[in-house]
Amino acid sequence: MIDRAQALALLKEYCKEEVLIKHSVATEAVMQALAKRLGHDPEQWGIAGLLHDLDYDETKEDPARHTLRTEEILRDKGIGEELIEAIKAHNAEALGIEREKPFHFAVTCAESITGLIVATTLVYPDKKIASVKPSSILKRMKEKGFARKVRRDAIRECEKLGLSLEEFAELSLKAMQGISDQLGL
Ligand SMILES: [Fe+2]
Repeated sequence: MIDRAQALALLKEYCKEEVLIKHSVATEAVMQALAKRLGHDPEQWGIAGLLHDLDYDETKEDPARHTLRTEEILRDKGIGEELIEAIKAHNAEALGIEREKPFHFAVTCAESITGLIVATTLVYPDKKIASVKPSSILKRMKEKGFARKVRRDAIRECEKLGLSLEEFAELSLKAMQGISDQLGL
């Protein structure tokens, strides 16, 4: 198993865009909070969040390859199957595979809600995540025209983890508020 520092170094080796690094760190924070809430391993779940889009720069024009390049990179490093599976699962639709386990649903809903939270923060007058209320996230979730690229159905997979949308939004917001300096929000 790779540790957090090694995972971050790997992320910075492959992802050159600041926005992608912030998205990855935000997903990590939400994954750690989910693991703590559900009794899973926060380090392993956090690393999956951190590395889920590792190959994005290379595969952004070809969604059917997204996460498969990451699989090669991680396999080369001897990283365990569970982590690789969970990362691939967030692109299950394009890969023609199924999400089956809590770990799989978690990466999917966590990486999706981060975009909604960032977009909601940016329409607050002060653009500070500390000011954002969970109810704003829920309101924006229902507005289909707001942050259109955010996959609402993927966020709703929190229900497969036994979490209501309300609880998931609150947990995710808190997790991201805890690293506001790293997110620049
Ligand atoms: Fe992502």
